[in-house]
Amino acid sequence: MKFITVNSYEELSKKAADIIAAQVILKPNCVLGLATGSSPVGTYKNLIKKVENGEISFKDVTSVNLDEYVGLSGSHDQSYRYFMNDNLFDHVDIDKAKTHVPNGCAADLVKEGEEYDNLVKALGGIDLQLLGIGLDGHIGFNEPDDCFTGPTHPVTLDPSTIEANARFFASKDDVPKSAITMGMMSIMQAKRILLVANGKAKLDILKKSMEGPITPEVPASILQLHPDVTVIYSEN
Ligand code: F6R
Repeated sequence: MKFITVNSYEELSKKAADIIAAQVILKPNCVLGLATGSSPVGTYKNLIKKVENGEISFKDVTSVNLDEYVGLSGSHDQSYRYFMNDNLFDHVDIDKAKTHVPNGCAADLVKEGEEYDNLVKALGGIDLQLLGIGLDGHIGFNEPDDCFTGPTHPVTLDPSTIEANARFFASKDDVPKSAITMGMMSIMQAKRILLVANGKAKLDILKKSMEGPITPEVPASILQLHPDVTVIYSEN
């Protein structure tokens, strides 16, 4: 695991965007695994600038997102589909038909998970997976548990995750209590992983994930088993 510490969120976002841009330049038809939340917003802003400058093109890129809240349709402004359109897809030359987010409104979420995994497989897997990390060590919405879960699956969100994400909703009660998330299989099978984290509050869980025992109680600790992980951290 490569750990890069930078001095600001701006620097983190620039570095992360440079790594993603390099991936797109080296393989224009790559499959990018993308994340939502506050951590990658600056990275997406930098990627938009790179497209505007003509440095990169998303024309042939396919994307697969990590997760989606259960019950929120793509038109809900807190859904992760909406987030991705708003923060990246609407501002770059990506073909929207090649952007994928799990469907949190599917009648059968287990089947939706199977279909999502089949899609990732059919695409040839993920070339570069972007991740954030939750304060409880979750990646995607793989919450601390008794065992690691492989396939894309529905999950009940931890109270700490609901608390952390309440900042995006009118009230804590409005935060969905469940989600559908890519499991560890597609994440760990990604050829390269890039994790971005900022803020002092994340340092403790980052250390546990990178140096502590590999345990499903700290979901991100599984990344120690991946051969190509880069973590970019800034305290601010
Ligand atoms: C989002 C996701 C989550 C977030 C994590 C950190 O798609 O999968 O794992 O990356 O909750 O969120 P922020 O960046 O808001 O601290």
